[in-house]
Amino acid sequence: MRKHLLEAGDLDRADATLVLDTAAQIEAALAGREVKKLPTLRGRTVVNLFFEDSTRTRISFELAAKRLSADVINFSAKGSSVSKGESLKDTALTLEAMGSDAIVVRHPASGAPHRLAQWVKGSVVNAGDGTHEHPTQALLDAYTIRQRLGRLDGVRVVLVGDVLHSRVARSNVWLLHTLGAEVTVVAPPTLLPVGVGSWPVTVGYDLDAALPKADVVMMLRVQAERMNASFFPSAREYSRRYGLDARRMAALPDDAIVMHPGPMNRGMEIAAEVADSVRSTIVDQVGNGVTVRMAVLYLLLGGSPS
Ligand code: NCD
Repeated sequence: MRKHLLEAGDLDRADATLVLDTAAQIEAALAGREVKKLPTLRGRTVVNLFFEDSTRTRISFELAAKRLSADVINFSAKGSSVSKGESLKDTALTLEAMGSDAIVVRHPASGAPHRLAQWVKGSVVNAGDGTHEHPTQALLDAYTIRQRLGRLDGVRVVLVGDVLHSRVARSNVWLLHTLGAEVTVVAPPTLLPVGVGSWPVTVGYDLDAALPKADVVMMLRVQAERMNASFFPSAREYSRRYGLDARRMAALPDDAIVMHPGPMNRGMEIAAEVADSVRSTIVDQVGNGVTVRMAVLYLLLGGSPS
């Protein structure tokens, strides 16, 4: 694997499979252990540099680094010298001067992790940049699909909703394509990006038509905080056309699964009874996130297997 993980396109099929297989090995190594910790990254320092709100991604990276015995610094822009106007570059160089080996960065500007990677000597992991990419989310999603369905090749994945603002969608499209899945995106035309025609996906507007042929349906959060205009008439109308409720879920093939990266708008893009159903992998995705991020940090920082 390369030095950084900036976008899903950084990973070819062999790299991506290596991450998933390494995560599976870590899961097996930790299963049944009382102390869920490996000594692999002892003496290394991982900085979580978060300029945007996060619950699961930040905690997941923190746990992943700690379970590999690394020292972890959590930095959030709020309450730091960023509030005094310090730039991303100076912030990163400061952290590196204190000995960080890897920086995990979430930033509202698309491309910020790429800039960071030019300035620092250590590894950079993109934990979500604007509406661009969120590669570890796609990796944990792929891991979860493989765990539930036993394969990724030929799996039919339908991504539904706010594709326009979703870095999760972008990373999933590229990674799933690399891993041989067939991806369909379904959204109102206003929530599809201009360049979607060049993506390796089928585009649809009718959720009811897509569901009977799906092995995986991945619901995306309606990202109201990124909307500066009205993209659909009302929440009710959105939910009626693009929300996954129990009636729609019944149209899925028997073994199909329902995914959501979180945080969810229950009752908007996904009904509570769907989110809490046996088809839902939402809680598995969170658990797998820690294991997959352990695999990423391990492979990037080159620790030796224990
Ligand atoms: C996503 C994100 O922040 O991009 N959440 C996550 O990391 N699990 C998706 C979202 O905010 O809707």
